[in-house]
Amino acid sequence: MSSNRDNTRAQFSTRIGVIATAVGSAIGLGNIWRFPYEAGSNGGGAFMLCYIFFICLLGIPLICAEFIIGRATRSNEIKAFEKLAPGRKWFLNGYIGVLASVLILSFYSVVAGWTLEFFLVAVTGHMPSNSAELHRFFSEFISGNWRPLIWTIVFLVVNYLVVCRGVQKGIERLSNCLMPAMTLLLIAFCVNSLFLPGASDGLRFLFSPDFSKIDSESLLSAMGQAFFSLSIGLGGMLTYASYFPDTVRLGSCATTTAVLDTFVAILAGVIIFPAVFTYGISPQSGPTLVFETLPAIFMNLPGGTIWATLFFFLLFLASITSTISMSEISIAYFEEERRLSRKKATALTIGIAILLGSVCALSFGPLSDMKIFGKTVFDLFDYVSSNICLPVGGIVTSIFVGWVIDRKVIDSQMGCRGQRGFGVRVLIVILRYIAPAAIMLIFLNSLGVL
Ligand code: PFF
Repeated sequence: MSSNRDNTRAQFSTRIGVIATAVGSAIGLGNIWRFPYEAGSNGGGAFMLCYIFFICLLGIPLICAEFIIGRATRSNEIKAFEKLAPGRKWFLNGYIGVLASVLILSFYSVVAGWTLEFFLVAVTGHMPSNSAELHRFFSEFISGNWRPLIWTIVFLVVNYLVVCRGVQKGIERLSNCLMPAMTLLLIAFCVNSLFLPGASDGLRFLFSPDFSKIDSESLLSAMGQAFFSLSIGLGGMLTYASYFPDTVRLGSCATTTAVLDTFVAILAGVIIFPAVFTYGISPQSGPTLVFETLPAIFMNLPGGTIWATLFFFLLFLASITSTISMSEISIAYFEEERRLSRKKATALTIGIAILLGSVCALSFGPLSDMKIFGKTVFDLFDYVSSNICLPVGGIVTSIFVGWVIDRKVIDSQMGCRGQRGFGVRVLIVILRYIAPAAIMLIFLNSLGVL
């Protein structure tokens, strides 16, 4: 996936490689870090139910929609909208996507930087072994002036080197081998969590829905989390699909991605919440929740240091396969629309992310008083990208595929020969009516307009 001028555009070579890459983009900190903290802050079970509902109702159809646009046009996001609706303003949606991808890359890299710090602490055998010490260590770390900043920059530079040298293939191959290992590790941690004293409280919190906890804000958060986790709404899947070969079946690739992604998020929940209740951590701790919980679990296992080292290494890998896809959105734009070389396009993307990411990294410490709309810069980027940009991108994408583009494009991309199958008919109904109406309703409701 290196050369991008139209007819020399690179392609993924195998079907399994395509699925692994889409899954690699989807599975990341969104599942293991963001899902548990969002679920914890929004009432647990009811949030999870809404999240799964949105994955099925909106997530899978929107991945298909992005796949259709991406593979039909084989272009970056902005050009893709232009090609399918020439002379109209739909391409503006591409700009929202590019903007959102850079915002996400900035705060995401801060958290990926935390995984590097934890990896280093684990590998050197300095991981605190009880939750009080861990809390102190983590609070001191994130409120510091330098370490969070340095790790954010280190992570982004690694991301730069990987993307710029076109060694994604290597990383992807590595992650294809290691992601099953990560899943096995998660399953093992899950089993361990089920034996913790707080297991039943944790599982009750995660699985028994209390709908009185659901309001318009938490619905919006569940929808934003579904979009974030599936890398949709900002063109992540669209950009990847522009490199897919024609033989890939888009519907089954979308479904496999969504199922595996959701499975990992649920596993993360089953690991975290029993520990949250066992160690007396508040489920509403927000972005720091997972980092205060997981090491406590590892250090109580025999060979804790090894588990912790292994886990944070795998989490780092999962993060980088996601940031590779995020960066690709703006890189493809700068490269193809602004005619920059791949190196310059990558440097520009990562440079912006370093600037913005630095502010995010410091927003737990020296810049914690800098509030915009009552939120720190980190929280603001997280909120604006997931709860505003992604849903807006989702509405536009669904209307675009449902109403604007030629049906023949949908049919040929979804592999319809002759008669349109049931699945594709359902897809069209969802994209035309259900998705735009549902997203709009939730969105307006949370703004207090409805
Ligand atoms: N889906 C990724 C995760 O859950 O960690 C985050 C992400 C990747 C969002 C790529 C957007 C994107 F384009």
